[in-house]
Amino acid sequence: MKLNKEWFYDETVQVGTNYQDISNVRAYDLQMAKFRDVKKEATDIIETISLGREHSLLEIGTGTGNFAIEAAKHCNEVYAIDVSSAMLAYAKQKAQKNGISNISFFQAGFLNYEHNGSPLDMIVSNLALHHLPDFWKMIALERINKMLKPGGTFYLGDVVFSFPVEEYDNKINTWIDTMREKVGIKFAQEAQIHLKEEYSTFDWVIEEMLHRSGFTFDIHHKDDFIAVYYCRKD
Ligand SMILES: C[S@@+](CC[C@H](N)C(=O)[O-])C[C@H]1O[C@@H](n2cnc3c(N)ncnc32)[C@H](O)[C@@H]1O
Repeated sequence: MKLNKEWFYDETVQVGTNYQDISNVRAYDLQMAKFRDVKKEATDIIETISLGREHSLLEIGTGTGNFAIEAAKHCNEVYAIDVSSAMLAYAKQKAQKNGISNISFFQAGFLNYEHNGSPLDMIVSNLALHHLPDFWKMIALERINKMLKPGGTFYLGDVVFSFPVEEYDNKINTWIDTMREKVGIKFAQEAQIHLKEEYSTFDWVIEEMLHRSGFTFDIHHKDDFIAVYYCRKD
């Protein structure tokens, strides 16, 4: 893909919360530990996709590296990419502390990562695709499909809206109040930034895009705001 076009989306520009700021990276890791059981989440994904020793896996938007580190314990090679150099440095350090040596970290994103190697068995992306506007989400999904082996697996988790649109005001206020109660004021503010500046969209938009980019998939809605798509390249 040629990236020297003036109209091409610049995914290196931070959208919403600035993950180039190391204090936001540290805060993100702490908040997630409060809010999610990141280890169990990773183990569940590994089990769902049947990740095995023989597999190579790409994680897009690896963040602080929790999933990549668990995945690396179960497979041959993990490629972990993120547009934020601060996130990558933090994740690399965490991998080293855990004695993990089979993760290759690259500063790259959905739109500019070039995979040099055999087609991948599995691709995982959690809570990152919403950083792209819809047109570019579709381009990203097409690229993901092309990077996979036939029969390969794509696991997509993201903030996706699956409530009826007429209920949006009430649903969003409740979501932000829950964040404030469970995780704290800073995270509630980040949820507001998410709504105002990032590009989460409706479940039916994502589902049509997955379908058009060549995947068949099962859907799991964790709640009205988080959806997981377990996709296969046919
Ligand atoms: C909300 S965090 C999620 C991190 C991790 N996957 C998790 O589940 O905790 C979103 C991550 O996506 C990264 N990101 C944003 N835009 C991206 C892009 N275009 N390509 C790849 N990663 C991106 C951010 O830098 C950040 O690390």
